[in-house]
This record gives sequence, structure tokens and C-alpha cells, in this order.
Amino acid sequence: MDDSPSRRSILLGLHSLSWRLLEALDSAARGLWAGLWLGLLSREHLHRIDQLSYGASKSYQDADHNLSGLFGWETEAVDHYFQGRRRLLLLGAGAGREVIPLLDRGFDVDAFECHEGLRQAGNDLLARQGPRCSIQTMERDRCPKLEDRYDGVVIGWGMLTLVQGRQTRSQMLRDLRSAVPTGAPMLMSFYVLGGPQRRYRIAVRFGNVIRRVLGNERLEFGDDLSPGFAHFFTRETIEEELREAGWRLEFFDRRTYPHAVALADGDSVTLGN
Ligand SMILES: C[S@@+](CC[C@H](N)C(=O)[O-])C[C@H]1O[C@@H](n2cnc3c(N)ncnc32)[C@H](O)[C@@H]1O
Repeated sequence: MDDSPSRRSILLGLHSLSWRLLEALDSAARGLWAGLWLGLLSREHLHRIDQLSYGASKSYQDADHNLSGLFGWETEAVDHYFQGRRRLLLLGAGAGREVIPLLDRGFDVDAFECHEGLRQAGNDLLARQGPRCSIQTMERDRCPKLEDRYDGVVIGWGMLTLVQGRQTRSQMLRDLRSAVPTGAPMLMSFYVLGGPQRRYRIAVRFGNVIRRVLGNERLEFGDDLSPGFAHFFTRETIEEELREAGWRLEFFDRRTYPHAVALADGDSVTLGN
């Protein structure tokens, strides 16, 4: 076949152009799909999708996962920032993966989980280890009603990313702030925005057209559906949300699973709960 320089340069040009076109179509399609469903589905619908997906995924209930201990980045954060703390509040405990290693480190842990199946699986697992802790129920998107005060907070792996709406997250973070003294640490993990952001722009614009018509609360840049709800943060947005709720961002790392440690700042913003 003829491979003259001009033919080669046309072919390579077309290859590159069609790749960029494919990427643009892919992000537009994903953005439109997410915008359509984020627009049409209510908070409760999205909760139900999340509930079904964690129910269908056996790995979150498996003993293998829940006895696998803290991830490396969690170990580093807990051992560094939670040293000398005694009583911890854990939200989004799932079936207990973080609970057991935190108890083993000598912390008293009050753990909460919204998914009944995961909560029960976790309590079965914990019961087999001796009566050290049981995972209590909590509502989605909310800090549970707390009877006690704590020396530190762990928002379980990825949970913050699943909480819909800045105001809701802000209320939850304020309620958590009111449960701890100044200087107390809080560990959290979440998705972060990376790479091209076109699909998020399309999703938020299209979704909000539909939400405006339906009279529902507005979406925010970074809200996504894949296929369940997730909010993607940046360092700036997480820092701002924390600051508004009375927390100071102390550590942020996106090299492993993106996570942050915040310290309770000044006086509690609100009594919450
Ligand atoms: C990635 S799983 C992690 C579970 C557990 N921490 C672990 O490491 O195995 C996220 C957890 O957040 C919970 N979750 C999902 N949506 C939530 C919401 N809107 N509010 C509070 N928790 C939520 C899920 O039920 C699930 O237990």
C-alpha cells in the first residue's frame, strides 16, 4: 500500500482528529446522561439507587473486606492525627471495616451506618469478635443524633462523596463540629475532579434546567451519576465547605485515595442536632 509522506500525514491527522471527536462525544454523552437523570431523580430516588448498589455488591459485606484492616493512607492519617484521642465517632461504617482496627488501636468507637444490610453484616461480624461495639443506624446525608461528645471523627471511606448538596453536607459537618472540642481531628475521603471537566459542566447545566422546571433543589458543579450519585470535590471546594462548618483543612492528599484531615477550628459554629 502507498505510504507516501502526504498520505501518512493525512492518516495520522485523521486518527488524532477522530480520537478528539470521540472523547468530546463521550464526555458530552456522559454529561447529558448524568444531567438527564440527576435532573429527573429526587434525593430519595438517588438514595434508593445507592442502597440497591451496596446491597447488590457482596464485597462490602464480605468478611474478607471487613477484616482487611485500614488502608495504608487511613493508617497513616489515624496514627499521625488521632494519637492520644480516645473516643471516636465513625459515620458510614458499612459492615465494619474501619471499626475493628480502630478498636484494636484502643479507641472507643461509636459507629453508624445507614444501610441496614451492611449494618447487620457488620454487627454479625463484630459479635463474633466479642461485644466491643455495635454499629448503630443513621439517616442518609445527616449526622445522627448524638448523646455524647467525641475526641475525633472518621467519616468512613468515600461517604462524604455520596452526600447530596452543599447545604446538606454543611449541616452535617457543622453537627459533627459541635460534637468535638477545638483541635479534634476529622478524617474524610472523597472523589476529586481530575482531567477534562466538560461532562460535569454539561451535567450541571442540563440537570438544572430539568430541576428548575420540576422545582427541585439545584445541582452543583461536580455532581455526577455513574451510575449512582457522587459529588466530586477539589481541594478548594472541600476546604471552603470545611471552613464554613468550623473546620480547618490540615492535610489533603490525592495521590492515593483522595482524603483529608481537618481540625476543629475555634468555637463550634452551631450546636446542631
Ligand atoms: C464506600 S462505602 C464504605 C463502607 C465502609 N466504611 C468500608 O470502608 O467498607 C460508603 C458507605 O457510605 C454509606 N452511604 C452511602 N450514601 C450515604 C449517604 N447519603 N449518607 C450517609 N452514608 C451513606 C454506604 O451505605 C456505605 O456504607
